[in-house]
Amino acid sequence: MARHIVVAITGGIAAYKSAELVSRLKKAGCEVRVIMTENACQFITPLTLETLSGYPVVTEMFSAKSHHEVEHISWAKWADSVIIAPATANIIGKIASGIADDFLSTFIMATKATVVIAPAMNDQMYANPILQRNLALLADLGYRVLEADYGHLACGTSGKGRMPEAESLADYMLNLSEPDLTGLKIMVTAGPTREAVDPVRYLTNHSSGKMGYAIAKRAAARGAEVLLISGAKGLTVPWGVKVQYIDSAEEMYQAVAENFDAQNVVIKAAAVADYRPKECAPEKIKKQDGAWALELERTKDILAALGEQKNGQILVGFAAETENVAQNAQKKLQKKNADLIIANNLRQEGGVFGKDTNQVTIYNRNGQIKELPVLSKEAVADEILNQVKILLKN
Ligand SMILES: Cc1cc2nc3c(=O)[nH]c(=O)nc-3n(C[C@H](O)[C@H](O)[C@H](O)COP(=O)(O)O)c2cc1C
Repeated sequence: MARHIVVAITGGIAAYKSAELVSRLKKAGCEVRVIMTENACQFITPLTLETLSGYPVVTEMFSAKSHHEVEHISWAKWADSVIIAPATANIIGKIASGIADDFLSTFIMATKATVVIAPAMNDQMYANPILQRNLALLADLGYRVLEADYGHLACGTSGKGRMPEAESLADYMLNLSEPDLTGLKIMVTAGPTREAVDPVRYLTNHSSGKMGYAIAKRAAARGAEVLLISGAKGLTVPWGVKVQYIDSAEEMYQAVAENFDAQNVVIKAAAVADYRPKECAPEKIKKQDGAWALELERTKDILAALGEQKNGQILVGFAAETENVAQNAQKKLQKKNADLIIANNLRQEGGVFGKDTNQVTIYNRNGQIKELPVLSKEAVADEILNQVKILLKN
């Protein structure tokens, strides 16, 4: 069944981006209805949104088109989710104060749907403590408040206050889930590490980081506070996820160790190098005739170190095995004091690195829990998070 999404547009410059948002949601198969405040109509015409959504746009509370039903109530019931984009300081203040003096604010008061707020405004307005207080209050009340982006603002300055691009807003809406992980702090590691040989060369591996990013994305969509420690560069950081980039295994260890105590769950999807060059040459190594051997030394075993320091956290590791998968997973669980091991099937058709799908088996201390079929990395992420939830309950 198609998802019912209401896109609400208020009076800000970023209103032009909402046309693309509606178009993207429609293309993804959602049914979309649009509400515009009177002031939003100064920035973009209802005709554009009506054409893109394929449904009459509501702009007034008491329109001549009034039907037998009370429209703000019937729309409130129809919606599965709502996004106010852009959300002006004005509408944020009105919702936070319980004001219902136009169609949008009355509809918001009446709906039980998940409401996402994408604030967009001048950086000084965004930094205003009253606005920030209102956003914090709304987040506390269960509204999904998105952080504004940094960047160039329509008023000619640069700062924090930009509405995120339509693509990432549409992606957020399509990923919206029940907030069943709210209150949890989850740290996810992703991607490869790079071990410097000299100033221009490094040792690395084929990990793309997509599995870790999918876990971070699904955990954030399910309400967790997510910190992503990423060796992968250039992937889109999912909504609501804080990212810290690292290069080497040692930097990965430092970042993970620094943040470990504050977490409820740590999911280590990164492919961390087991060895690094014993020395990083200060200058570029010149080629010479004949063979050359590079001396390597062990990097720190991060999973084992976390297993030792563990203080109530759920610890999830990944294992990339080509043989004796079940035995090796059990060994790893015991040796590293982990709670779950996700064994990647490296023999799967087309491989695993860089793909959007994965085939894994999940193990806990009692053995195999689930052998999953080939699934999207996001579906695999949800399965892992479901198992984490079971562990947390126990
Ligand atoms: C050119 C122009 C651009 C504006 N851009 C924004 C904006 O980006 N964010 C914002 O909060 N208010 C902005 N405003 C102010 C709002 O339009 C104003 O507060 C209005 O009352 C909002 O009404 P609404 O929330 O009912 O749509 C802008 C005003 C003008 C004239």
